[in-house]
Amino acid sequence: MKKLLITGASGFLGNRIADFYAKTCEIIAPAHRELDITDKDNTALVLKKYRPDVVIHCAAMSDVGMCEKAPKQSWNINVTGSINLAKAAGAVNAKCILCSSDQVYFSGLKSHRNPEHCPTHREDEKLCPGNLYGQEKLKAEQECLNLNPDCVLLRLSWMYDAKTKRKDEHGDFFRTLLPQIAGAEMIKFPIYDRRGITDVHEVVQNLEKTFELPGGVYNFGSPNEKNTYGTVRQVFANTGLDTGRLGKNEEAFCENSRNLAMCQDKINQNGIFFSHTAEGLSQNLAWALKNGSANSKTLFH
Ligand SMILES: NC(=O)c1ccc[n+]([C@@H]2O[C@H](COP(=O)([O-])OP(=O)(O)OC[C@H]3O[C@@H](n4cnc5c(N)ncnc54)[C@H](OP(=O)(O)O)[C@@H]3O)[C@@H](O)[C@H]2O)c1
Repeated sequence: MKKLLITGASGFLGNRIADFYAKTCEIIAPAHRELDITDKDNTALVLKKYRPDVVIHCAAMSDVGMCEKAPKQSWNINVTGSINLAKAAGAVNAKCILCSSDQVYFSGLKSHRNPEHCPTHREDEKLCPGNLYGQEKLKAEQECLNLNPDCVLLRLSWMYDAKTKRKDEHGDFFRTLLPQIAGAEMIKFPIYDRRGITDVHEVVQNLEKTFELPGGVYNFGSPNEKNTYGTVRQVFANTGLDTGRLGKNEEAFCENSRNLAMCQDKINQNGIFFSHTAEGLSQNLAWALKNGSANSKTLFH
């Protein structure tokens, strides 16, 4: 039985990983007060104490806006903390899987280009992220790989959970969409924004396959060719909802058109597959509609 040490196991992703792999692996999920990744000595000591086979690093300051508000603290957690962990994992010969983000692909440059006409992003592109969170994630990738070339860095897209909601958890795309569907008003979605949006359970289930990957950076999430408006339109059509209620938001991202959609070639070559963004959302929405969740105030508000 493999021994997995998960950082950030009280968070959105770490929590679900710990739950899912508890059936097949020994789980070590130290709380923040036991393992503070910004403390190099503490991190090394905790890793020596448990000697895991695999470290899954989910601890982070994951809110893009919070990073801009607290730049020193976020750099310390997202960059220094990741470096401390990659080093400590290397010292005990543990495979280290670290969470990065599709935000490394956000350029922040002025552009009015239709994001659907842009190519999907590849792992080997030269990057210059336009926000601090993206810069931190890119720096962490580079530094961790320099220190410990066996590290696997997963560029995750925006994730959602349609099935479970834990107390005090941050919102996600699906949870925001459901009450809008339950309402009667017109709903607008950006046409100048395009990114993969992934069911967190697909991320969790695919994670096991990353334990055997060679060190490097991997795009890790659902593909998407459509902008957000086009995506939701497709989801509505797939699930028999009235597309007439959908409108185009032409203001959001119009000055800085955003395309974060990732190319899946590298993970696919390694036997890892994600469902398409609209397909995943449609299946989950069909499930929620069937189970009455779309109208459930307690679950989704
Ligand atoms: N959620 C998404 O849609 C998304 C998308 C792309 C990438 N990612 C990346 O995926 C990873 C997981 O994201 P998430 O949404 O699960 O994050 P989250 O819900 O914000 O959880 C962050 C976790 O990090 C812990 N933490 C913060 N500072 C720490 C420190 N100094 N030492 C130890 N633990 C610390 C928190 O514990 P306390 O609360 O106890 O401090 C919490 O358990 C992150 O790297 C994130 O950047 C997430």
